[in-house]
Amino acid sequence: MQNILDHLKSSQDTALGELCDFLRIPSISADSKYAGDMHRCADWVMASMKDAGLKAQIFPTKGHPIVYGERIQDPKLPTILVYGHYDVQPPDPLDLWTTPPFEPQVRDGKLFARGATDDKGQLFTHLKSIAAWVKLNGQLPVNVKVLIEGEEEVGGVNLDHFLETHGDLLKADVAVVSDTSQYGDGIPAITCGLRGIVAAEIRLKGPSKDLHSGIYGGSIANPVNALAKMCGKLIGDDGRVQIPGFYDDVLELSALEHEQYAQLPFSESHFLNEVGSSATFGETGYTTLQRRTARPTCDINGIFGGYTGEGPKTIIPSKAIAKITCRLVPVMKPTKVLDALEAFLRSHCPPGIEFEFKRFHGCEAFVFDPTSEWLAAARKAVETAFGQPPVLVREGGSIPVVLSFKQILGIDTLLLGWGRNSDNLHSPDEHIHVQDFHRGTLASACLWAELAKVVK
Ligand code: BES
Ligand code: MN
Ligand code: MN
Repeated sequence: MQNILDHLKSSQDTALGELCDFLRIPSISADSKYAGDMHRCADWVMASMKDAGLKAQIFPTKGHPIVYGERIQDPKLPTILVYGHYDVQPPDPLDLWTTPPFEPQVRDGKLFARGATDDKGQLFTHLKSIAAWVKLNGQLPVNVKVLIEGEEEVGGVNLDHFLETHGDLLKADVAVVSDTSQYGDGIPAITCGLRGIVAAEIRLKGPSKDLHSGIYGGSIANPVNALAKMCGKLIGDDGRVQIPGFYDDVLELSALEHEQYAQLPFSESHFLNEVGSSATFGETGYTTLQRRTARPTCDINGIFGGYTGEGPKTIIPSKAIAKITCRLVPVMKPTKVLDALEAFLRSHCPPGIEFEFKRFHGCEAFVFDPTSEWLAAARKAVETAFGQPPVLVREGGSIPVVLSFKQILGIDTLLLGWGRNSDNLHSPDEHIHVQDFHRGTLASACLWAELAKVVK
């Protein structure tokens, strides 16, 4: 084991250089202009898997390709399914990046590029640790199956179809995903819960064309006024979602969970500094950390309609659009939440406005069994590499594949995040701390050894 860690330490610069090559490919799944780059990126991942000693291939889908590689040492050993995503969020707004998003650069110990932490930098740690084991020991102490997809950031449905049709190929004892964060500066974490999500779009149509607001104003409903009014009713002054029945299926935190939350260090001022706000706001009766990770939300992600250019324009616009997501906690059901959201908004729609409600992807929340032996093994690996035992925390974000692994393949997922929430995920100047990339690689190398000891 020590020889592997030593090798990883002495080849850190090479690994970082390879990560930069990975980051130079603009694998933006949301934008069809980049379809060619998505293929180029999938090829890059496959080559890197082969380099690491995996038998690898590309599976085309109706959307972006899936890359799969495996190394089966011995059917008697535990089999670990590693998942990551090679697609990234669009880099916009471009003018807020200090250096271009697909020209990786190290500054102040951080590597800046779109995808640096979400998720190329994190998933690459596993390929490097596997490569080191194979190179130095000629084999791994576990069987690994590595699944890297290209549609995570767009909530693609093709991966679920792949899971449903490749159950035998993907058969494993537990999954490992590095696509979450550490708890804080120097405090590693194993994420034991994720929020679920539902997404929708509301389209309101009023008059068949924009109208002069002097000639017609006051005589018909204005769709932008209507949209603002219905959206304004979603959240109360107490920060609670006003949709009837919204909290019906919410499991309250247990006394033990309240105690665990209270034991985690949390600085309100440090948090405000991280997000760049002057005050926190949320549901009465819960702490900031609880609101962010264990309580459901309803947020408008974008709202548009009417004239948004320079100067005034006196019109009654003909349309208005809003995009909304809700984050879910156990045991809320996505369809039930969408039904309630739609009914609530519809009930506030004035006459003369046509109401359209479009539904997107969704998934339930996830919680990990805290008594699992896989979890105990992962804790040891993280502690060895980070020099500190990890805390167990819930996170506010969503990783739908974790639910799919549970529901389709019947396995649990260890969420081992090496990055930080302050790494600007989905935002300009995304980065990963170079140190986090390296210790993530070491933790991954230790992980295979620890998971090998679990009696399945
Ligand atoms: N890696 C994130 C999720 C994440 C980040 C979870 C940090 C916990 C901590 C993932 O790539 C992501 O952005 N997920 C989306 C899911 C959506 C597109 C269905 C999200 O949470 O918005
Ligand atoms: Mn991610
Ligand atoms: Mn993401």
